[in-house]
Amino acid sequence: MSIYLVTGGAGFIGSHLAAELTRRGDRVRVVDNLSTGKRQNLAAAPGAELVEGDLADVDVARRAVAGVDYVLHQAAIPSVPRSVQDPITSNRSNIDATLSVLVAARDAGVKRLVYAGSSSAYGDTPTLPKHEDMATSPLSPYALQKLVGEQYGRMFTRLYGFETVTIRYFNVFGPRQDPSSPYSGVISLFISALVEGRSPTIFGDGEQTRDFTYVANVVDGVLRACHAPRVAGETINVATGGRISLNDLFATLKALTGGAGDPIYAEARAGDVKHSQADISKAHRLLGYEPIVSFEEGLKRTLDWHQSSERAPAAS
Ligand code: UD1
Repeated sequence: MSIYLVTGGAGFIGSHLAAELTRRGDRVRVVDNLSTGKRQNLAAAPGAELVEGDLADVDVARRAVAGVDYVLHQAAIPSVPRSVQDPITSNRSNIDATLSVLVAARDAGVKRLVYAGSSSAYGDTPTLPKHEDMATSPLSPYALQKLVGEQYGRMFTRLYGFETVTIRYFNVFGPRQDPSSPYSGVISLFISALVEGRSPTIFGDGEQTRDFTYVANVVDGVLRACHAPRVAGETINVATGGRISLNDLFATLKALTGGAGDPIYAEARAGDVKHSQADISKAHRLLGYEPIVSFEEGLKRTLDWHQSSERAPAAS
């Protein structure tokens, strides 16, 4: 039985990783400062131990990694507009904390660290789908910070021989994605507006596209990256390989929810990327990864969660 540390494990993606690991019978420790994470998200991961603290403090990071085999580093402030508004706070969470975790994990003899990278690193390059060999072009502090985190990881592999792998996420959605902040992921915002009879806002003309990825696919990709051979130092996209516009997303959700009303259009967000779609052939080659839950099925499961009783305490 291995021991896994999930940083940010009380958050959306982290709690899904913790849940799957406990389901498989592994031991899980979560470290979270509960700034956006929620204690009740860990109800999905019975037996997971919670360490509360801020990972930018290297002593917290050292306590968290003690005795751990694998680190899944998910802790971050995952928002483009929030980083545009307050780059210093997001820098601390996204870069300082990452460096602390890398140093602590290296010193503690952790076998491998899998880092939550972001598709935002690609920026507005015209080539679609986006593949890992492309030049990066971060358009926001968030995108730059996530890219620095992955470069730090790669450097730790080269410099110290400490195994790290970056999985670049593309617009992940699913149950427990919190819709209560204006910085929340767009699918959670659209669903909560439609279910509550409000009009969602579409920033820009709504023709921007995203490779929306149901969270179970990311969990599968990350756990494969923990154990796959010959991936240390690699950056790998994990997504579905498709893309859908915000206008089509809204129409699909409107039909699924039976919601009435139309969206309100507002000015495009600063730092927003126009199109995003992943080439997932490297994930297939190195990890044997294939999406296991389609976009449509993922939307249905997410909608079920929004309408279920589990959602009620999370929203309070
Ligand atoms: C970006 C990153 C993604 C990262 C995520 C974290 C890209 C391509 N992706 O996602 O890797 O994990 O940040 O937050 O950069 N929108 C609306 N109405 C709303 C909210 C959003 O129209 O109420 C639009 C946004 O302007 C954007 C799209 O929906 O065009 C998606 O927004 P969001 O869910 O916030 O994620 P990204 O910024 O794409």
